[in-house]
Amino acid sequence: MEKIAVLMGGRSLERDVSLRSGERISAALDERGYKVLALDVTPELTETLRSERPDAVYIALHGKYGEDGTIQELLEFLGVPYTGPGVVASALAWDKAVSKRLFRANGIPTPDWVTFSADAFKEMGAARALDLVPDALGGFPLVVKPAEQGSALGLTRVEDAGALPDAFLSALSYGSVAIAERWIEGAELAVSVLDGPGGLEVLPPVEMVPKSGLFDFSAMYTPGETDYYVPARLTDDVAAEVRRLAGAVHTLLGCRHVSRVDMVVGADGVPNVLECNTSPGMTETSLLPMAADAVGVGFQDLVERLARAALDGLE
Ligand SMILES: Nc1ncnc2c1ncn2[C@@H]1O[C@H](COP(=O)(O)OP(=O)(O)O)[C@@H](O)[C@H]1O
Ligand SMILES: [Mg+2]
Repeated sequence: MEKIAVLMGGRSLERDVSLRSGERISAALDERGYKVLALDVTPELTETLRSERPDAVYIALHGKYGEDGTIQELLEFLGVPYTGPGVVASALAWDKAVSKRLFRANGIPTPDWVTFSADAFKEMGAARALDLVPDALGGFPLVVKPAEQGSALGLTRVEDAGALPDAFLSALSYGSVAIAERWIEGAELAVSVLDGPGGLEVLPPVEMVPKSGLFDFSAMYTPGETDYYVPARLTDDVAAEVRRLAGAVHTLLGCRHVSRVDMVVGADGVPNVLECNTSPGMTETSLLPMAADAVGVGFQDLVERLARAALDGLE
C-alpha cells in the first residue's frame, strides 16, 4: 500500500484554511486506499518524514513556507516526491512583484502596478514618491496588497490619497514588499490548470460574485457569502482567451501538476491576470475542486490524480 504524507497547517496565516484542505484531502486518499499520514507542520516534521519514509508528500499547505518554495526545497533534499509546482515555480508565483514583471515581459496582461519595499521606505525615503502613485495607476480606486501573501490578507481598496499611507502600512505588516495596483472593475475569475500525460488541461473558468462586493477572506471561505458560476458567464471569445492565458501563465512560471490563475475581466472584455496560485485551496468553497467537478472530475478523483502525479514522477 502506498504511503502518502499530507502536510497541512503549519504557521502560515492561512493555517486554518490549510487544515480544512488537508482534512478533506486525507479523507479522499484514505477512501482511495492509500495509507495516509496526516501531518501538521512543526519543527519535528523532518524527523518524522525521515522515519516514516512516505512514498510521496501531498502539500496541502497554503501561504508562506508551503507555497513559496521552502517546503519544496526541503522535500527535494530529502528525496520525497511531492504534489504541485517545484521550487522555482513556487517562488516565482508566490512573489507577485516578480511574477507580474514576468507576465508583462511575456505579453500576459496584468494591471499596472508599482512596488515598494519596507527597505525603500526606511533606507531611501520612498514615502516621498507616494504622491506619484495614483497618476501612475490611472487614479482611484486602486488596490494595495502585500507582494507575498494570499487569501486577500493585508489587501486594501484605496479610494483617495489620504488612505494610501495606511494601506501601505497594512500591507507591509504582512511582508517586506507591497504593491499598489490599478483596480480593475469587472468579472472575477479563477482558472485552474492541471497537467497530465496528455498535456495541459485548462478547466472551465469559475466566476466569483461576492455578495459584499469584495472577494475578501470571509467571502472566500464562508459558504453562502459568494455566488459562483461555472463556467463563468463569458462570451466564447473571452472564455477562450482566458483559458489560453491560464495555460500560458502555468507554462511561463514553469508550473507542474496544478496551478490556479486569478484574473479580472474588465468591462471592455479584456482579461487581466492578478496572480498564480501553486497550492490552490481544497476546502468546501474552493475554486479548483469546483472547476474539476464541472468536467466530471470529483474531489477524490482530483486528489488522487495529483497524488499520482507525485507518485509517478510526472515532471
Ligand atoms: N487589481 C485588482 N482589481 C480588482 N480586484 C482586485 C485587484 N487585486 C486584487 N483584487 C481582489 O482581491 C482578491 C485577492 O487578490 P489577489 O491578487 O488574487 O491576491 P491573493 O489572493 O493572493 O490575496 C482578488 O480575487 C480580487 O477580488
Ligand atoms: Mg488570489
